[in-house]
Amino acid sequence: MAPILEISDLKNLARKRVPKLFFDYADSGSYTESTYRANESDFSRIKLRQRVLVDMSGRTLETTMIGEKVKMPVALSPTGLTGMQHADGEMLAAKAAEEFGVPFTLSTMSICSIEDVASVTKRPFWFQLYVMRDREFVVNLIERARAAGCSALVLTADLQLLGQRHKDIRNSLAAPPKLTPKHLYQMAIRPRWCWNMLQTNRRTFRNIHGHAKNVTDLSSLHSWTAEQFDPKLSWADVEWIKKQWGGKLIIKGILDVEDAKMAAETGADAIIVSNHGGRQLDGAHSSISMLPKIVDAVGDKIEVHLDGGIRSGQDVLKAIALGAKGTYIGRPFLYGLGAMGKEGVTKALEIIAKEMDVTMALCGKRQLADVDRGIIAESPF
Ligand code: FNR
Repeated sequence: MAPILEISDLKNLARKRVPKLFFDYADSGSYTESTYRANESDFSRIKLRQRVLVDMSGRTLETTMIGEKVKMPVALSPTGLTGMQHADGEMLAAKAAEEFGVPFTLSTMSICSIEDVASVTKRPFWFQLYVMRDREFVVNLIERARAAGCSALVLTADLQLLGQRHKDIRNSLAAPPKLTPKHLYQMAIRPRWCWNMLQTNRRTFRNIHGHAKNVTDLSSLHSWTAEQFDPKLSWADVEWIKKQWGGKLIIKGILDVEDAKMAAETGADAIIVSNHGGRQLDGAHSSISMLPKIVDAVGDKIEVHLDGGIRSGQDVLKAIALGAKGTYIGRPFLYGLGAMGKEGVTKALEIIAKEMDVTMALCGKRQLADVDRGIIAESPF
């Protein structure tokens, strides 16, 4: 096997090992994918300042995110259908994150349930909430997250309607996959993926299946999900969720200064500057390009995190320099999971940590507390 040196190596391996419809599900943005591409490419428009002959010994990447100690400021993003990249995907990714010392966020749309993930981890994980029209279901999800010991609720604010991803429609995406001849062929040529899936207890959508009203099988689940995203969701509901949860709250999907100010008013613990990895509003700005403006507006009132387009430790360091207290990776860990299961998620985290450590040192810094806009040589944002 060729050496795995960077995140794109994991991506290439995942492309070979995961059936096309699920690889494409991860590797896609909405409509023309312009925001998805900008998330990645805008990082390379920021130039770092090289510094020399500075004592670089005794470096550390350790810091905190919402008061929790982290080995580096990189959490795993909530991603739906993670268990289709690799059998038991959410459980494996959560374990890899726990062992590495970074937060794992479980999506509402996960394949493994909250309880499945809690059963294999000791460290509290974070739970991401989509607010559904069925508020009883939402209260039930919040209660399950609390019972599982989750230490933060991540409220996703940018998905009242679903941005269309053309690849999913062309691939007739469904979970479990509809067994069309095309899909059967895609799976037959990836026997390792099939074998792993067959070893699990068919944990298909246990997270929702059996907990939502009138959901008895996969087809009712599909229509239930489609009609359940609540277009009426508003800032008033954030207050309600805060009360129901009572713990640490992170609002995800903020890309505008005015929204950041509204979020800071809610008393949430953090916001995530995010455009859902380019999967919602196509034509929106990249996350990194909006970060400095948002930090300037609310950075002294609320912790600001960022996701979208991070593919290296250099990217993480740029986000930290521009004022993020923490970052998240979505696709990089999904590629790792699809390529090599738990080991691949660990590999993704190790790659980013090593790159970040060397980059920080070559910028003349030994700890993240000293990293600020001073390490940026040039930035269009
Ligand atoms: C996501 N994202 C997402 N966000 C969320 O709040 N709930 C979810 O269920 C999902 N599902 C999901 C599935 C897949 C396959 C992807 C790629 C993304 C968005 C995710 O949390 C995060 O915002 C982006 O993935 C960050 O961008 P990168 O790191 O993937 O570039």
